[in-house]
Amino acid sequence: MEKILDIITAKMQQAFADAGYDASFGRVTVSNRPDLCEYQCNGALAAAKTYKCAPIQIAKNVAEKLDASDFSMIDAVMPGFINLKLSDAFLKNYLEEMRTAPDFGVTKIGAGKTIVVDYGGANVAKPLHIGHLRPAIIGESLKRLHKFMGYNTIGDVHLGDWGLQMGLIIAELQERQPDLPYFDPDFTGDYPAESPFTLSELEEIYPTASAKKKDPAFAEKAHTATYELQQGRRGYRAIWDHIMGVSLPDLRRIYGVLDVHFEKWLGESDADPYIPAMVEDLKARGLAVQSEGAWVVPVAEESDKKEVPPMILVKSDGSAIYATTDLATMVQRMQDWNPDKMLYVTDKRQNLHFEQVFRAARKAGIVSETTELEHVGHGTMNGKDGKPFKTRDGGVLRLEQLVSDMTDFVRSKVVENKIVEESEVEATTAKIALAALKYGDLSNQPTKDYNFDLERFAAFEGNTGPYILYTIVRVKSILAKYGDWENLPIQAPANAYAKDLMLAITKLGPTLETALKSSAPNLVCAYIYELAGCVNKFYHETPILKEENEEVKAGHIALIGLAKNVLETCIDLLGFSAPEKM
Ligand code: ARG
Repeated sequence: MEKILDIITAKMQQAFADAGYDASFGRVTVSNRPDLCEYQCNGALAAAKTYKCAPIQIAKNVAEKLDASDFSMIDAVMPGFINLKLSDAFLKNYLEEMRTAPDFGVTKIGAGKTIVVDYGGANVAKPLHIGHLRPAIIGESLKRLHKFMGYNTIGDVHLGDWGLQMGLIIAELQERQPDLPYFDPDFTGDYPAESPFTLSELEEIYPTASAKKKDPAFAEKAHTATYELQQGRRGYRAIWDHIMGVSLPDLRRIYGVLDVHFEKWLGESDADPYIPAMVEDLKARGLAVQSEGAWVVPVAEESDKKEVPPMILVKSDGSAIYATTDLATMVQRMQDWNPDKMLYVTDKRQNLHFEQVFRAARKAGIVSETTELEHVGHGTMNGKDGKPFKTRDGGVLRLEQLVSDMTDFVRSKVVENKIVEESEVEATTAKIALAALKYGDLSNQPTKDYNFDLERFAAFEGNTGPYILYTIVRVKSILAKYGDWENLPIQAPANAYAKDLMLAITKLGPTLETALKSSAPNLVCAYIYELAGCVNKFYHETPILKEENEEVKAGHIALIGLAKNVLETCIDLLGFSAPEKM
């Protein structure tokens, strides 16, 4: 559907032309004085200079040419603004079209395009910690948003499964159990199918090994093991398979709890087959050069204000690093999916890494000129006190712990307030907790840091996820009491609150478009907060089920029904859903 702003801009331009002025002056904006009008045009002020005439005169001439049936108010005011309010008929027709069109008539700006969203970024053998919350939540939301806007979307978790952490685990395991066949270079039989470690053992092995990095002899071993693994040493590949087998199901489970789902579970290791040819090619074309024993790709540009160091392609010991696998992953993605856009969601401390990789990819022509590359570098989630989040003993908080803390807190409220029957407590709690967690995060600009505040995020009032859910549940219960409502047509606004609500609903399409273009789920949050406010205002000021005139009542119901559908669609784009009761 055409956006309202575009519709009335076209009408305004026509009016300028009909009044004898250049149509390009007829630009309309959303009013910044909602107390005076809904939309406004300041074009007469600019036109005044061209036509050497008082702006108010131009504004009046243009206002006369506008089709009065579209507006309930057309006001030419000093010094030359044209203030507009939409007519009831216009709004009614527009909303009825939204109600009956698929996906509310939102323009599918991504139709025919493919996007890869690289998010999550879990590292195998390491438990997910709170640092993994934001890339999972923001990435999932951006992916859903792109999908809704018509993109063919491929979400890839891009596991950290190929770097030094693998070598560290192998080296540590060898110290503990040197007699395992994996370490015998002459072993030619089948390796045991059963893993030599359990998940909890693995989660202990890694930090222990990591702490030993300071020991040069151990570090050397780990580096060699990493290199040999990457070179395909059989026994090490077998250990790697065990690490994956033990680690992946747990990662899937926790992402599942967060309602985060990846189309692809590829990792750094999957880029490995693409590395040799890519490296050879970059060397052959002189794009990679030798520097202190390593191969690097210089990516500095003249316009750089800060130094952008070369991207390291191959380390002096011959092993691939983070940038190598990221570049090779692009080769794989272009070959397999030829995406129009690759969007990466990681901590903003990786900004430089992506700048280097993107530049190298462009320089080498690994991605086509039209493929958009974007890195959304998110800020840090801090504790309530604004300091980095730590456990009581100073460690890094596990993601699961954070989720269960939130869940426990919400559950106690659900139980205390007897919100649902006992059998429903867990399911309802899970939905509210997820909304609290995700909305608490997504309502912030991705790049900004924010403070995690359990009580505030879980509150049923204020700018929170639970407040949005509560609004939806409230409407659902009214609709249930009313009965069949799905086919009721939208009517002209019954009062000023209805009109505000209708105007808010019309902003869905423009909001989603801006949110997508600026990779900002926070705009969707701000939108539904405003929309929920309009719903509640309308509900408080208007007797809905008590309305005696059946026709009028049906209009109220149709309106809140549409608002509820819009809200539910938006929270789905944010990655959570509403319970039946709350
Ligand atoms: N595993 C990485 C980390 O923990 C994040 C991966 C992000 N994605 C990427 N393509 N580099 O920092």
